[in-house]
Amino acid sequence: MVELLPSILSADFAHLADQVAAAERGGGTAIHVDIMDGHFVPNITIGPPVVKSLRKATSLPLDCHLMIDNPNEFIPDFADAGANWVSVHWEACPHLHRTLQLIAHHGMQPGVVINPATPVDFLIEILPMVHHVLVMSVNPGFGGQEFIPFSLKKLARLAELRRELGLTFKIEVDGGVAHDTVAQVVKAGAELLVAGNAVFGQGQPEADAHALLTAARKAAGE
Ligand code: DX5
Ligand code: ZN
Repeated sequence: MVELLPSILSADFAHLADQVAAAERGGGTAIHVDIMDGHFVPNITIGPPVVKSLRKATSLPLDCHLMIDNPNEFIPDFADAGANWVSVHWEACPHLHRTLQLIAHHGMQPGVVINPATPVDFLIEILPMVHHVLVMSVNPGFGGQEFIPFSLKKLARLAELRRELGLTFKIEVDGGVAHDTVAQVVKAGAELLVAGNAVFGQGQPEADAHALLTAARKAAGE
C-alpha cells in the first residue's frame, strides 16, 4: 500500500493546524516534519516545540526527518514532544547503530536517511534495525527542488535488498515527488511518499494531496 506523507516544509506555518487537517482530508496518513539546523543543511526550520504543538493538532503519526548534526542530543526532546517516527542521516551519524538504538529506546520508530550521493549498500548491516529507510531524491535543505533521476535505481536496489534479506522495513522517498515523478517512484518500490510543494505549493492541500495519492495508487495498481 502506498501512503502519502505531506511535508509541512511548504505549508503556511502561520496556519499549520489547518494546513495539516486539509492534507489529512486529502488522504495523508502521516505528517512529514523537516527539522533543519543550519549546519548539516544550509537552512533552519523548526524543533521540538513545533512538534509538540503538531502533536495536539493531529492524531496522525509525526514522521520527523532530522537534518541536524549530533542528533543523539535531541532525540529525548523529540520523544517528549510526541514524535512517532524519527529518521537520522547516515551522513550525520558516526555511530549510527547507537543512534538507532537510542531512538527505539525512547519508544519511537527508527529510520535512516541517505543523501543522493550515498549508496544504499552502505546500510546493509543496520537494515534489520529500522522501521523505514528514507531515500533522498534531492539534496536536503529546501522544498520544491527537481527530482534526481538516479534515485530510482536506489529505490529499486533497496526493494531488492529487502526481498533478499527477508525484511519488512518501509521504503520512503523524499524530494521532487510530484505528478510527473510519482508513478516512477512507486514503480521503483517506494511506499511512503513525501511531498511538500506538490501538496502545499498551490494553496489547495486537500485537492492536491488527493490528486497525488490517486496517481500513486494507480501506478501501484491499487
Ligand atoms: C528537503 C526535505 C523535504 C521537502 C521535500 O530537504 O527533506 O521533505 O519538504 O519537498 P518537495 O516535495 O517540495 O521536494
Ligand atoms: Zn524531509
